[in-house]
Amino acid sequence: MSSSVLELPETLRLESHPFARNQCTSTTTFSPGSTIISIPALVSVLLPASKGHRCDACNRRPSDQPLKRCTGCASYWYCDAACQIFHWKTEHRKMCKDYNAYCASPRFQSLQEHEKMDALLLSAFCAHMALLLEPDENPSVSTFLSLLPGPTEIEPPPRCGGYAFSADQLKSFYSRFGNNNFSMHSHFNVFGHGIFPLASRLFNHSCMPNAAAKYVLTSSQSVRMEVVALRKIMPGEEICVPYLDPALLQTRAQVFELTYGFTCKCTSCTFLGSVGRIPNPPKDGLELKSISTALEHFVREMGEVSVFQTGRSEGFPPQLLCVLHETFLCDLSERFSAASHEGLYDVALEAGTTLTALYRLIYPPNYPQIGMHLLEVAKTAWNYSVQTDPTDKALNNLAQEALTLARSILTVFGSEGDEYDGPLVEIQTLSNLLSPLD
Ligand SMILES: *[C@@H]1O[C@H](CO)[C@@H](O)[C@H](O)[C@H]1NC(C)=O
Ligand SMILES: *[C@@H]1O[C@H](CO)[C@@H](O)[C@H](O)[C@H]1NC(C)=O
Ligand SMILES: *[C@@H]1O[C@H](CO)[C@@H](O)[C@H](O)[C@H]1NC(C)=O
Ligand SMILES: [Zn+2]
Ligand SMILES: [Zn+2]
Ligand SMILES: [Zn+2]
Repeated sequence: MSSSVLELPETLRLESHPFARNQCTSTTTFSPGSTIISIPALVSVLLPASKGHRCDACNRRPSDQPLKRCTGCASYWYCDAACQIFHWKTEHRKMCKDYNAYCASPRFQSLQEHEKMDALLLSAFCAHMALLLEPDENPSVSTFLSLLPGPTEIEPPPRCGGYAFSADQLKSFYSRFGNNNFSMHSHFNVFGHGIFPLASRLFNHSCMPNAAAKYVLTSSQSVRMEVVALRKIMPGEEICVPYLDPALLQTRAQVFELTYGFTCKCTSCTFLGSVGRIPNPPKDGLELKSISTALEHFVREMGEVSVFQTGRSEGFPPQLLCVLHETFLCDLSERFSAASHEGLYDVALEAGTTLTALYRLIYPPNYPQIGMHLLEVAKTAWNYSVQTDPTDKALNNLAQEALTLARSILTVFGSEGDEYDGPLVEIQTLSNLLSPLD
């Protein structure tokens, strides 16, 4: 299939790549925060935890009114008639009658939770295909079929609804799901899985991505993915998004190999590959403390560009190698959330400050997770000052600084998902509580 079939905006170009299939490069300059492309879902499925809380058509969670049930199956929920009609025409008509029996069937029940999602996504995909008047003419479908299948062949799960697809066709669809499905999120809380063929076709992964995906929910429409520039992108630069959390410093390589069948060659992986063996972090509290202090110092002095972006390990202190062990980050975030949960805000703030430094080292600038974390740090500092001394200037300033940085980072990414709440709203609320910085 030739790439000329793809409908691309003029600002993007799909080029041949020295060793990969294609690369998507920019033909223009994108400023941080600009939308590179907006792509509708071909199909999407809600997680079980979101069923009944979000509309099955547009995936919104209305704040002002309860969802209405499909009277046919009583298992699908919608904002209103417009959403229901949209979903009926594009998918649900083929699934409504069989859905409950299917979900209760021993074959479906014997599947693991993630396999159930896969089975529902496959069912929704087949239903959607069966309802398209001319599936062969549909650009989203042909883009989906042009995607590379996953590295391993698995038998497709049972489906809901009766459609005329051959076993080979089903296998061919299903083999493209595993490495081409996206977790959709609202304020970084995952609510479902979706297939966005053009996004899969265009954007390769990087652990130091210059762009990231967010999800926009609009009444009686499919979810849209918006790919947002995290920093300035120059003409000719390849645009990459993260397929998984880059903070999985050790396990990510395995996932790339097993799920996507490639070895990542980004600057972050180059850096990690060049530092040699990564030791376990020390168990001793005092040693950990001194390493945390050294990490914070290193990041303060590092400037805007991290060694994870240059890919060069010269000058990286050997003493800090153990912070690159995944357990260091895990333990730190556990300590941060446990301590703030228990009201031990001083302990939490200490862990939170070290975690901020680690995030700035391993994530690209403006990465939304850094902003989300800084918002938590600001809340912790606020809680601490309420608990101890609300007039404490130092705590107030700490909260203000974290909040200012959180706002600038999260404004680049912009709001996603449900529009009536989310981190930008929380930042505004907390900002109103704090006194101005001095
Ligand atoms: C989505 O991809 C993950 C791997 O990243 C896989 O484990 C899961 O089964 C896939 N889900 C669907 C619905 O295909
Ligand atoms: C994505 O990039 C990796 C290297 O980082 C490469 O091995 C892989 O083939 C690329 N994938 C596609 C689909 O171009
Ligand atoms: C702040 O305090 C509130 C109320 O006690 C609590 O619910 C919240 O989890 C705390 N947040 C942080 C980040 O410490
Ligand atoms: Zn809706
Ligand atoms: Zn129904
Ligand atoms: Zn990488």
